[in-house]
Amino acid sequence: MCLQMEIKSYNPVRIIFGIDCVRNNMDVFKGMGRFPLIVTGRSGAKKSGAFDDVKDVLKKGPHVLYDRIEENPKISTVEDAAMMSKKFNCDYIIAIGGGSALDAAKAIAVLAVSSMNGMDLLSSKIEKALPIIAIPTTSGTGSEVTPYSILTVDQWQTKKSFASDLVFPKYALLDPKYTYSLPDDYTISTAFDAASHLFESYFSLRSTNISMMYSLEGIKAFEKAVKAIDKLNFDEESRYYLMYSSMMGGLAITHTGTTAMHALGYSMTYFHNMPHGFANLYFCRPYFKHMLKHEIQKTLHIVAQMGFTDVGSMCNFFLRNMERPRLDKSMCEKYASLAMLQSSIKATPGELTEADIVSMYKEAGSL
Ligand SMILES: [Fe+2]
Repeated sequence: MCLQMEIKSYNPVRIIFGIDCVRNNMDVFKGMGRFPLIVTGRSGAKKSGAFDDVKDVLKKGPHVLYDRIEENPKISTVEDAAMMSKKFNCDYIIAIGGGSALDAAKAIAVLAVSSMNGMDLLSSKIEKALPIIAIPTTSGTGSEVTPYSILTVDQWQTKKSFASDLVFPKYALLDPKYTYSLPDDYTISTAFDAASHLFESYFSLRSTNISMMYSLEGIKAFEKAVKAIDKLNFDEESRYYLMYSSMMGGLAITHTGTTAMHALGYSMTYFHNMPHGFANLYFCRPYFKHMLKHEIQKTLHIVAQMGFTDVGSMCNFFLRNMERPRLDKSMCEKYASLAMLQSSIKATPGELTEADIVSMYKEAGSL
């Protein structure tokens, strides 16, 4: 430990993790308010069983549903949902879904009690937000325990995030059974998002002993699901560990944010429609190669904790599970200039230049 290092740690989310935790904790909902806006995507919340559990717990009490959150939510969508919240005078939000629904809910929570527009979220100080109960139905984003919301900004052709202590959910209710109905490809792509949070936070220049504790706890849990991912055979145990590792990833990045893999991955999602988790680990080879140069001990520790013998075999495991687009020179240059706008680049060890980022795109895009 570096004796000069200042360690800061804050996470106010009340976490309840376990099978049937929504039904077993009705009091959580009673204490939140009188009229919730339930925020979901089009189908995941219903398929997972979470929406039915919430409706039962609310006992047919008044609520209004906004179920039009898309993958990679747009500014216009959160503005639309906030108008609905204002119209019905909702006093808290229940967010059910994957990262998109949870991230959108945080933006809606702010817009519903202010005169800001969606773009203001990215630049203005946030003064107030409705309280949120977050119920994840995927294991990946960790958004249920973070102060981050990531939105797609079409005019900038990328994703941008905002962060505020006011959008930390008041409660995170994590029930692994909500992920039982997830298709394999979605289970893997979201799991890879969790893995990238755990790795990137561990390497981050902002990492502390506390954040690394979360990263390593999550990596150990993720390792217990590696075989299930490899064999595409997810049972209750592997889904339990994936949800737990995803939560740990969220707790880790709450302290540190992400690093270059996320910054590079955004263009793969925006321009090539790659799922977010795949988009990050698409860069695993150049990223870990860079880390072997700048953080060799941490790199080797991750590889060992993940149960692999070397970086190459760990990267093969991630890469064989995804479809990988080829990138030409002009794409690499354009995406690198967009990646340089992300603050997470600066949290990456080894002072990455734009030329380094172009090389990373070229390496990943030619494999
Ligand atoms: Fe992520």
